[in-house]
Amino acid sequence: MRLAMIGSGYVGLVSGACFAEFGFDVVNVDSDETKVYSLNQGKIPIYEPGLESLVQQNREKGRLRFTTDLSDSVSGAKVVMIAVGTPSRRGDGHADLSYVFQAAQQIAAALTPYTVVVTKSTVPVGTCRHVAEIIQRLRPDLKEGVDFDVASNPEFLREGSAINDFMRPDRVVIGTNSSKAHQILSNLYRPLYLIETPIVFTSIETAELIKYASNAFLAMKIAFINELSDLCEKVDADVQELAKGIGLDGRIGRKFLNVGPGYGGSCFPKDTLALSKTAHDKESPLTLIDAVIQANDNRKKNMANRILSVLKTNGELKGQSVAILGITFKPNTDDLRDAASLVIVPTLLKAGVKVKVYDPLYYKGADRLKNIDILLGEPWLEVEWASNPYQAMEMSEAAVILTEWNEFRALDLEKTRSLLKTSAHSLPTLIDFRNIYKTYEMQGIHYHSLGRKEILS
Ligand SMILES: NC(=O)c1ccc[n+]([C@@H]2O[C@H](COP(=O)([O-])OP(=O)(O)OC[C@H]3O[C@@H](n4cnc5c(N)ncnc54)[C@H](O)[C@@H]3O)[C@@H](O)[C@H]2O)c1
Repeated sequence: MRLAMIGSGYVGLVSGACFAEFGFDVVNVDSDETKVYSLNQGKIPIYEPGLESLVQQNREKGRLRFTTDLSDSVSGAKVVMIAVGTPSRRGDGHADLSYVFQAAQQIAAALTPYTVVVTKSTVPVGTCRHVAEIIQRLRPDLKEGVDFDVASNPEFLREGSAINDFMRPDRVVIGTNSSKAHQILSNLYRPLYLIETPIVFTSIETAELIKYASNAFLAMKIAFINELSDLCEKVDADVQELAKGIGLDGRIGRKFLNVGPGYGGSCFPKDTLALSKTAHDKESPLTLIDAVIQANDNRKKNMANRILSVLKTNGELKGQSVAILGITFKPNTDDLRDAASLVIVPTLLKAGVKVKVYDPLYYKGADRLKNIDILLGEPWLEVEWASNPYQAMEMSEAAVILTEWNEFRALDLEKTRSLLKTSAHSLPTLIDFRNIYKTYEMQGIHYHSLGRKEILS
């Protein structure tokens, strides 16, 4: 069975490679010529553990190809998946569906019966219907339900563990009202029946909403623990123990109760916003989600101000220097979209603080830094990049752990103590926004973490 995957970003590339691994004939399409060129050279344009070898193996076996030629890939394909971006629309926060609709038009022009067109992108309720209308309008010779169907199959993979998430998902959600599409998509996911993955067949609208509701719920858990962390600090409680104490309740669960500087990434910020907009448009507001969005925006600003107030205890901000360890929104990805660092670093720079950054994927000499100002904005030109965490710490007033990369979990604390300048407390300062260290390990360091007692001895 031939599958055409339209869009070869985080989702399209991983999904295409995994379907090829299942044994299907996959053509991955992307409109970005440079991306397709690199993929055809065996170079993976994103960082995702295990992806390079999976792509290479499946290319060698002839089951995975990359092209910019959408029309050739779509004609003859039984399944066409749309996996293009759906970023926030400038100005109002609705999902920008222009890439999806453009892909739908291009698909329509090349469609040969019978094909299931599947939206894998995260799209608001009603989008699949709209895609079907586009195809029907542009191809009056084809009949929906006979020559083609449109189905929803949202993707739940997480960057950093995307292959495992795709191969061993908690569930697969498929929204369709066509028995033909039902049959074809069941066959596509048959390899997962062996590991007894629950496949939820539902209406198109419900499938579209399941994706947003899942992300909004997880975002809510993060915002919840972050606000409770602030309360812990006021009442001398410990947020780590609190999270464990509530998370062990099976109804609540321990996941997504890790305190931090606010959620980021390519999904939660834009998806909570888009869901809230849909709800307002339908006059059924989701006040909880509105509060989550607000709380998370405030969180990132508050974290930046927290660093500044720690530095202020040393005196004048201007001239002080901070080592930022980790700028990606989470470990094991190169994705910077909506990361907390994008609020924190520019705020520090604006206050006159010198910022030295080390991230395992963004470091002095890394290729990824070439267009960093275009990617993140001009203030980032002022950042000094380091080749390792210790170089960033040298002569800095404080080090801040922003992303919990493995290599920050076992910092040489002796070296950290000796490289950082001494603060107003006569101790070097380590600010840990991921609570990766135990407070008792921090003798001789002014250790500032979240929702726990500050250590000043
Ligand atoms: N990144 C994640 O972790 C994740 C997880 C689950 C769901 N999603 C959703 O999946 C969708 C894709 O996300 P992503 O992170 O992979 O996006 P991305 O920006 O990394 O990739 C999208 C790709 O689509 C290509 N593209 C756009 N229009 C095209 C067209 N007409 N023809 C061919 N290629 C085209 C772009 O060049 C780009 O390479 C989004 O809706 C997102 O919300 C993302």
